[in-house]
Amino acid sequence: MKKINLGVLVSGGGTNLQSIIDSIAAGKMDATIQVIISNIPGVRSLERARKHDIPAVVIDHERFATREDFDREMVSVLKAHHVDLVVMAGFMRILTPVLLKAFPLKIINIHPALLPSFQGLHVQEKAFDYGVKFSGCTVHFVDEGVDTGPIIIQAVVPVYGDDTAEMLQQRILEEEHRIYPQAIQLYAEGRLEVTGRKVRVQNPRPMEASSLHNPPLEKF
Ligand code: GRF
Repeated sequence: MKKINLGVLVSGGGTNLQSIIDSIAAGKMDATIQVIISNIPGVRSLERARKHDIPAVVIDHERFATREDFDREMVSVLKAHHVDLVVMAGFMRILTPVLLKAFPLKIINIHPALLPSFQGLHVQEKAFDYGVKFSGCTVHFVDEGVDTGPIIIQAVVPVYGDDTAEMLQQRILEEEHRIYPQAIQLYAEGRLEVTGRKVRVQNPRPMEASSLHNPPLEKF
């Protein structure tokens, strides 16, 4: 199968970036990372890029007068590297139409909650404080809103009675590392069909569970 070219956008540690690098190295993905772009100098993601010999570019947003100017520079770097799919992996900037129109339905993001619940920042803690029994993570196409685009895949993670917010965050992160490479591979295989808000996966495997309960049901 023909490989797709990824451009990965980061702002920080890059554990999701690492999960994509590792999945590619393990031969699980029909994709190569052409370029990693960080808007912040000196972050751990850039070390990961160096270690794996992947081209990395810092585009410091503070050097640009407007969000649109910053996005224009991003578009030019992404196009120069022949990127097919833009993967936001802990990238902490809101995109403008400049970037969205240059890559229509070709930008995806991962969010550490079950959208549309808990949009925005620090959502693992917000979900924990709210007392939800399940949280999780979502991979979605990016549109002009914040965390509002069509949903590709979600993973559900239980919250246990003796959890802390950090334990929940870690449990969610482990699922992020599974569903993000999977979502990219579905895209690479051309199996995502988008109609309005709905993303249909062609030829999915049968679902393992029909429902989940937390706490588990007893006599019912
Ligand atoms: C993840 O929780 C991701 O869902 C969110 O930012 C975090 C990035 O983590 N968008 P990392 O940089 O991939 O380790």
